[in-house]
Amino acid sequence: MDSQELVQHFAEQSHPDELEQFDRASLEELVAKHETPFMVLDLEEVDYQYKSLQAALPGVKLFYALKSLSHPELIKRLKGLGCHFDLATIGEVELVESLGIKGDQCIHTHPIKKDKEIKRALEFGCKRFVVDNFEEMKKFYKYAGQVELIIRVSFRSKQAVVDLSRKFGCSLEELPVLVEMAQSNGIEVVGLSFHVGSQSLSPATQVNAIRSSVAAMKVMNNVKWKFLDIGGSFPVSYQEEVTPIEEFCAPVMEALSELPEHIEVFAEPGRFISAPSMIEVVSVVGKAKRGSRTWYYLDDGVYGGFSGQMFDHASYPIAPLKPFDPLGEFYPSVLAGPTCDSIDVVAEDIELPELEVGDILIGKQMGAYTIASATEFNYYPKPKIVVVEDIFDPTTEAL
Ligand SMILES: Cc1ncc(COP(=O)(O)O)c(C=O)c1O
Repeated sequence: MDSQELVQHFAEQSHPDELEQFDRASLEELVAKHETPFMVLDLEEVDYQYKSLQAALPGVKLFYALKSLSHPELIKRLKGLGCHFDLATIGEVELVESLGIKGDQCIHTHPIKKDKEIKRALEFGCKRFVVDNFEEMKKFYKYAGQVELIIRVSFRSKQAVVDLSRKFGCSLEELPVLVEMAQSNGIEVVGLSFHVGSQSLSPATQVNAIRSSVAAMKVMNNVKWKFLDIGGSFPVSYQEEVTPIEEFCAPVMEALSELPEHIEVFAEPGRFISAPSMIEVVSVVGKAKRGSRTWYYLDDGVYGGFSGQMFDHASYPIAPLKPFDPLGEFYPSVLAGPTCDSIDVVAEDIELPELEVGDILIGKQMGAYTIASATEFNYYPKPKIVVVEDIFDPTTEAL
């Protein structure tokens, strides 16, 4: 083999170290202080993600979608950065209220609400609501003069991992009828919104949705349009690399430049801010050779912190904490959660160095739609969350 072939050969044989961006000593310090399973929320990473997205979407007002991860320390951090908030339930209203956030810094984006949910949001001072159908519009008749409505339009996307426009959003044809219903009942319509789906792998649907929204606003010139809300969807890298955020947002910004200047733009990011801000630390608690593969049983799985594998279609990068030789022996392995259910498998057909009971594994990109949908099936408690300022400098206060 010549030297180029040798480089290629080693690159093919080598197993990448998923934890290379971390300082293993800092992670070991955390492991020494906290019993597994636990998650680590890195507030410095929250800052970084928020600022990166804001830089990629200059002038766009960001409303963090609490549903992806609603830890109070993350919310307080975002509040300090000037972020606004996207709420969907009474629980979320009460959480932000308890943290000193004001109603006018929030929008209520759930297209389907009970009357008591509308009332509670209004009591809090949040008067901007999303509506996407005729029945919902009727619920607002009695609140005419007190609310500002944003109408959500559906734009289906094959490029989004989670296709939210399948479930919510009116058609462009229904839009003028909804506007007319509102206006003839004295209700102010102020904006349009859409969510092209979570973990969108291309900005194309968002760009198309912006163009269609701009065109619809121009046609319906009897409305005093104030806002266009472009939803969430901004992607993060799990097993596969995704388009960097500045590149993803460049065509979005270009499409937004077609909006009349007085119209303010909102976005509702969840995943992009929360996913990279949390890792999970788990231990191997059992090991069995079954057929050609070694099964490692972990102290958390898909019923706990890895729940996003079921509900969010995510597959998290996961790697052993102990250092390994990337050119050493790797074996076909399975990582399974602790519950008695056979669906509780975190990674199948994964190649790993030999692990032992007691070894630690780290799951990355685990902030969004993970602990938020975790259960306590089998009476396994959910992993606790350890908050650190910066993962390289753990203050390790468990909150
Ligand atoms: C109404 C609404 N806004 C925002 C979000 C957050 O989306 P993402 O996590 O893709 O940024 C969601 C996700 O389900 C949503 O339903």
